[in-house]
Amino acid sequence: MAEPLLDVQNLEMVFENKYQAFTAVDHLSFSVEKGQTLGIVGESGSGKTMAALSVMKLLPNQGRVSGGKILFEGKDLVPLKDREMQRLRGRELAMIFQDPMMSLDQVYTVGSQIVEAILTHEPVGKKQAEERALALLAAVGIAHPQRVFRSYPFELSGGMCQRVMIAIALSCNPKLLFADEPTTALDVTVQAQILDLLRKVRDEYQMGIVLITHDLGVVSDIADRVIVMYAGKSMEDASTDVIMNHPAHPYTMGLIQSAPKLEEQVERLHSIEGAVPDIRSMPKGCRFCTRCPQANDLCRETEPQAKEIAPGHFVRCHYAGS
Ligand SMILES: Nc1ncnc2c1ncn2[C@@H]1O[C@H](COP(=O)(O)OP(=O)(O)O)[C@@H](O)[C@H]1O
Ligand SMILES: [Mg+2]
Repeated sequence: MAEPLLDVQNLEMVFENKYQAFTAVDHLSFSVEKGQTLGIVGESGSGKTMAALSVMKLLPNQGRVSGGKILFEGKDLVPLKDREMQRLRGRELAMIFQDPMMSLDQVYTVGSQIVEAILTHEPVGKKQAEERALALLAAVGIAHPQRVFRSYPFELSGGMCQRVMIAIALSCNPKLLFADEPTTALDVTVQAQILDLLRKVRDEYQMGIVLITHDLGVVSDIADRVIVMYAGKSMEDASTDVIMNHPAHPYTMGLIQSAPKLEEQVERLHSIEGAVPDIRSMPKGCRFCTRCPQANDLCRETEPQAKEIAPGHFVRCHYAGS
């Protein structure tokens, strides 16, 4: 089998200060192949963003990778120096964030921001970079590239800004794109358009995509594989079809029941009561035990290990597959 584009093995990420350390991502493993999409799903506070920022080496202060390997095309990124990493970011690895309004600079035109991104990484002239920027705006489905090129971000809608962010991310033909909640701030129709666009660019450029979302509905028709994260750990990991149709972890089942359907825009009928535990006070046994409808004494006392209940289907639950 070909080597995966990204192969993350036992990633551990901690926040620490003089007195304490808290683990936000705990022995997380995942891989992404060229042209494929991995979905990372979980409620807010599960560690999804920190997992992505660990790979990008853009962790906030006091956060650091404390264990594991991050192999990108076979090369471990963990020991890389900032300079080398900067070269990789933008050229090989790119990331788009939840709120495009926050990520774009409000005082520069859209065009100048894309041109800047191109010039930082490619040995081209300004004129060429401008042409490339216009082509990118057209490629991300913007009907009037010239006009948007001259606009300031605040003059554009949220969906339009997200397209611009995707254009910037694509500007250097990255091999791998992290999309962190790229549609959360958008209304349902625009969400679907942005997902279509991600699918299109993935297929066209044979990019690997890691799509991060709290909404299983969003990954269900774009991801090849899904990891369900809870409180820093992978709870279930399988092909999208298995996750959607044969979930084995009570948390995944809860997420499926509470996922709004993209096309139907139905009200949330169920939601899982409670919240993801704080990294500073994790339950002793299974991390989900405080909210799990099936939890018993074993779950409260002993943390389950991940087990492979069918080929390629990993579940961290004492009772899965039995
Ligand atoms: N700058 C920070 N300092 C300390 N803890 C943080 C910081 N940023 C995030 N965390 C904690 O790390 C955990 C994972 O956060 P995050 O990766 O942002 O979750 P998600 O993206 O799944 O919502 C959370 O418990 C959060 O409180
Ligand atoms: Mg996040």
